[in-house]
Amino acid sequence: MEANMPKRKEPGKSLRIKVISMGNAEVGKSCIIKRYCEKRFVSKYLATIGIDYGVTKVQVRDREVKVNIFDMAGHPFFYEVRNEFYKDTQGVILVYDVGQKDSFDALDVWLAEMKQELGPHGNMENIVFVVCANKIDCTKHRCVDESEGRLWAESKGFLYFETSAQTGEGINEMFQTFYVSIVDLCENGGKHPVINSSASFTKEQADTIRRIRNSKDSWDMLGVKPGASRDEVNKAYRKLAVLLHPDKCVAPGSEDAFKAVVNARTALLKNIK
Ligand code: GTP
Ligand code: MG
Repeated sequence: MEANMPKRKEPGKSLRIKVISMGNAEVGKSCIIKRYCEKRFVSKYLATIGIDYGVTKVQVRDREVKVNIFDMAGHPFFYEVRNEFYKDTQGVILVYDVGQKDSFDALDVWLAEMKQELGPHGNMENIVFVVCANKIDCTKHRCVDESEGRLWAESKGFLYFETSAQTGEGINEMFQTFYVSIVDLCENGGKHPVINSSASFTKEQADTIRRIRNSKDSWDMLGVKPGASRDEVNKAYRKLAVLLHPDKCVAPGSEDAFKAVVNARTALLKNIK
């Protein structure tokens, strides 16, 4: 049996699982948990000191699931306290603040910390990850859009939800889907059911969308050198169009990327003799 699989897993029997929260300080991890468990929101920031622990019971189909929630402190200062809590986990709530790009970029760092703490024999494959793009109520400050977050999550096979601990939007749906996925995983012997095991788009498509998003000008977007010929521009365009055409590509952000590529090609061809 896999190291982090819960002990009791016969159909219909109760199940005990461990979930942890991860993400930078102040992104709203504790508030998300509080909103779900206590149906309330606290606007004053009370930093989690090390770890907060709570237990809750949920019903998933015919199973009663006892959930042990370990709410981690995001501040680097608490690394020594939280590092021993990564093991034997079935579910991870990964949170970032849609108004703080740093907190989105830090998700990779959080995964790396967990991987390091689990050690060479640790297995992250049999854990359900859900990404919460939190504080969506703060629309004015938003700087990480849905397609960017969804692309990151789905290209890793993670669940993705837009949430607001303040208004409650997305919170119940997120937890319900999260718990169902954990139970499915447990019932499937720790393996992701086939339909969820891989993203419905390729790594090349995801990387290309990210590259287009970050390109500095039209040449860069098409991946050609400034001053390239019409032929070179058209060739590069065709390659990207095949990869990203909305009929062929379902990756989040592909439509915008496709449109941007069409516009870049048009703009470049206007000025090439
Ligand atoms: P650490 O425990 O330090 O790691 O932080 P945390 O991620 O647990 O953050 P916490 O839940 O304590 O929330 C931080 C601040 O963000 C608090 O002032 C919350 O009121 C606020 N906050 C959390 N979620 C939301 C949200 O969805 N919308 C808004 N507007 N504010 C939020
Ligand atoms: Mg907290």
